Amino acid sequence: MLGTGAISSERAHSAPSFQADPFSLGVASGDPLPGSVVLWTRLAPDPLAEDGHGGMPPRPVRVRWEVATDERFRRVVRRGSVEATPELAHSVHAEVNGLEPGRSYFYRFAAGRAESPVGRTRTAPAPDARVSSLAFAFASCQAWPDGFYTAYRHLADEDLDLVVHLGDYIYEYGIPATGGNRNTPVPDHFATETVSLKRYRTQYALYKSDPDLQAAHAAFPWLVTLDDHEVENGWADDVPEGNTLTPTREEFLERRASAFRAYYEHLPIRSTALPTGPDMRLYRRFTFGHLAEFNLLDTRQYRSPMADAETDDRFDPSRTLTGDEQERWLLDGLSASSSRWNVLAQQIRVAQFDHGSESDPNLPQDGWEGFGMDSWDGYVASRDRVFGGIAERGVRNPVVLTGDWHRHLVADIKADYADPSSATIASELVGTSISSGGNGTDIDNLGRAGLLVNPHVKFYNIQRGYVSCRLDAQRWTTRFQVLPQVLTPGAPVSTRATYVIEDGRPGAVPA
Ligand SMILES: [Fe+2]
Repeated sequence: MLGTGAISSERAHSAPSFQADPFSLGVASGDPLPGSVVLWTRLAPDPLAEDGHGGMPPRPVRVRWEVATDERFRRVVRRGSVEATPELAHSVHAEVNGLEPGRSYFYRFAAGRAESPVGRTRTAPAPDARVSSLAFAFASCQAWPDGFYTAYRHLADEDLDLVVHLGDYIYEYGIPATGGNRNTPVPDHFATETVSLKRYRTQYALYKSDPDLQAAHAAFPWLVTLDDHEVENGWADDVPEGNTLTPTREEFLERRASAFRAYYEHLPIRSTALPTGPDMRLYRRFTFGHLAEFNLLDTRQYRSPMADAETDDRFDPSRTLTGDEQERWLLDGLSASSSRWNVLAQQIRVAQFDHGSESDPNLPQDGWEGFGMDSWDGYVASRDRVFGGIAERGVRNPVVLTGDWHRHLVADIKADYADPSSATIASELVGTSISSGGNGTDIDNLGRAGLLVNPHVKFYNIQRGYVSCRLDAQRWTTRFQVLPQVLTPGAPVSTRATYVIEDGRPGAVPA
């Protein structure tokens, strides 16, 4: 097991010299608490190097950081240094305390004579603060070879307190030497799927080389959780999707350990998330005064295997999506919350989505039938326990944020999907992908059929983009942002739809 950073016995090199800019992967901040934030960077003068070391020597290097209230660093309020070790790919996670709650700061790093770009971050407000409003955006699914991250460029231009990332930060697939839709050459060693630690590291390095992604990280603190592709498509706890690359359970857990380690190394998360082998505690909670509380969930690591779509498996009450411990943690936290808005930031669609029957002549044919086993539809009893529990406890304004599906969607989470007049328990906002799937289109047959069959689904769009939310005590306003294309950089952004949730009235409605 790894310690929280400084574990090499060798003394850290405090005056290294670099052949190229070691801050090629940018800077980031995250996990904001009242008066505290984690600052991230990784030293990588040769980020795409095949060995995964990013061009760094196999010894620890001292990295200095400072935090100021102004962009020119005239008023530095905190400074310090940490060891970037080869065991963690020379990543830096500086957990800075003693800041003021609810205010913006600038930060930067230095190693030897090299200086990083400047990042901007923001601490969470004090727990008892009267926060009048909060602005955040959420994003997911950024397959690098599928297209450019133009959405992030527009997101970075917004005035936000926070960005929430719901997973598929990387995809495990090999990347062709031509760079796919990007038409940007990549070294041949990217052709293989990510299984080893060094290959996961090179994948993150490629993804994080993107300037638009770097701009979005440098602009705001992020709250992140992962989905399946950070490990492998469709994995469930210790079960891989296929067993070709990892024939045994032990081999898959070894892969999961490598994937988790590389995830930790490349994201601005606290040492509480430092993996121990194949285990990583990622579900956690962040509070913004009395206005909003974010519950970040992990619906991959503790779930039962996928249900057999041909049977009644998906209703089996012994099956779980969250695991018992996380389910208890979630419901206990929601019971204790004094927040106006209670957010479940998670991966996969919650509201039922019946694809309809392929033999129904009145439905546009989309090639699908029934229910998706990878969503909460595959774990019906789990959904009933969590959302039944939310209804029972009278949780104030539960709002679910969802990624994974590469579609914008607005849906009501119902007490009974067969009865449209039954209670709406919570509002669900599904965000489309940043780039996964390529350009997309306004609507497809899956959406046309879905809107007909599922009256609780109100909006559907399958273009690329992100979701921008603004909330105060009365109202939560959501803008679904879309791009006309992602095959070349620089596309404009527009708002495809705006939905509003009023305090005390679950279910988003058109603005
Ligand atoms: Fe995805």
